[in-house]
Amino acid sequence: MDGVTVIDHPLVQHKLTIMRDKETSTAGFRQLLREIATLLCYEVTRDLELSLTEIETPLETMQAPMLTGKKLVFASVLRAGNGLLEGMLDLVPSARVAHVGLYRDPKTLTAVEYYFKAPDDIADRLTIVVDPMLATANSAVAAVERLKERGAKELRFVCLLAAPEGVERFRGEHPDVPIYTAAIDRQLNEKGYIVPGLGDAGDRMYGTK
Ligand code: URA
Repeated sequence: MDGVTVIDHPLVQHKLTIMRDKETSTAGFRQLLREIATLLCYEVTRDLELSLTEIETPLETMQAPMLTGKKLVFASVLRAGNGLLEGMLDLVPSARVAHVGLYRDPKTLTAVEYYFKAPDDIADRLTIVVDPMLATANSAVAAVERLKERGAKELRFVCLLAAPEGVERFRGEHPDVPIYTAAIDRQLNEKGYIVPGLGDAGDRMYGTK
């Protein structure tokens, strides 16, 4: 599908299967999410710009590649986004972080904002929005809208699982924002959950209900 990258690396798929299993503990789920996030981060940053810089190794001078393109902002859609954020920061510790606090109204399934904070120079950075579950896409669409209002110009969206309905909606609203996901599941159920899915990502991360 145009603008959607499914990261089908065997390590990602194996870890995702353990996360889907309802017997996996809270601690195990959180650890796996962090590990998968590093692998997703590796893929979403694959085309970052490099240029050659002169350095001295203990043996000789060489021209070696260093990152020289746009700096990064990771934008976490609270609260489950924080699970992906940790792994992303493990790989790019110097990235800036934005937080978008949205909750899903259980009746209407629409996104309601309760918190927003982003770096001042977001317009000059590549913004990677992280939220594990792209279900109805209501929160993802709203989060990207807010980030664009705040000045973000170049964005990518990273999730763990997506529903076909969410992918279609998100691409329709934000065709300029590519999606990176570990899997696209069958569908949404009547409560807005991805099936077969893994349940509520926030609850599974934090042991809430
Ligand atoms: N959010 C979740 O955490 N899980 C779903 O299945 C859908 C939305």
